[in-house]
Amino acid sequence: MNRGNSTFTRSEPLSGDDTITIFFEETACEVPAGVTVAAALLGHDDHHFCRSAADQEKRAPHCLMGVCFECLVEIDGVKNRQACLEPVREGMQVKRQHEPVDESK
Ligand code: FES
Repeated sequence: MNRGNSTFTRSEPLSGDDTITIFFEETACEVPAGVTVAAALLGHDDHHFCRSAADQEKRAPHCLMGVCFECLVEIDGVKNRQACLEPVREGMQVKRQHEPVDESK
């Protein structure tokens, strides 16, 4: 089938046996290799990743494609990372982002 000049690519399927360890709120989590941080952690405790800047309500991934910004987390000390776009890496330190986004920084 001709799909024109699309640049969309497909990653290799997971074997189901490949797991890595990441740390979420300093707790080790065994997660599938090759998935995003959001996909890896959606089943974790109460599902919230950050709080809204407006009313501090708990927020969790919604679109899973980089549009809504409901999945902001701190990864390896860097804030405002979109968990739905970031692939998991061995030893990665992920923390909830509790503070509102400060756009002046
Ligand atoms: S879930 Fe929407 S930007 Fe990440």
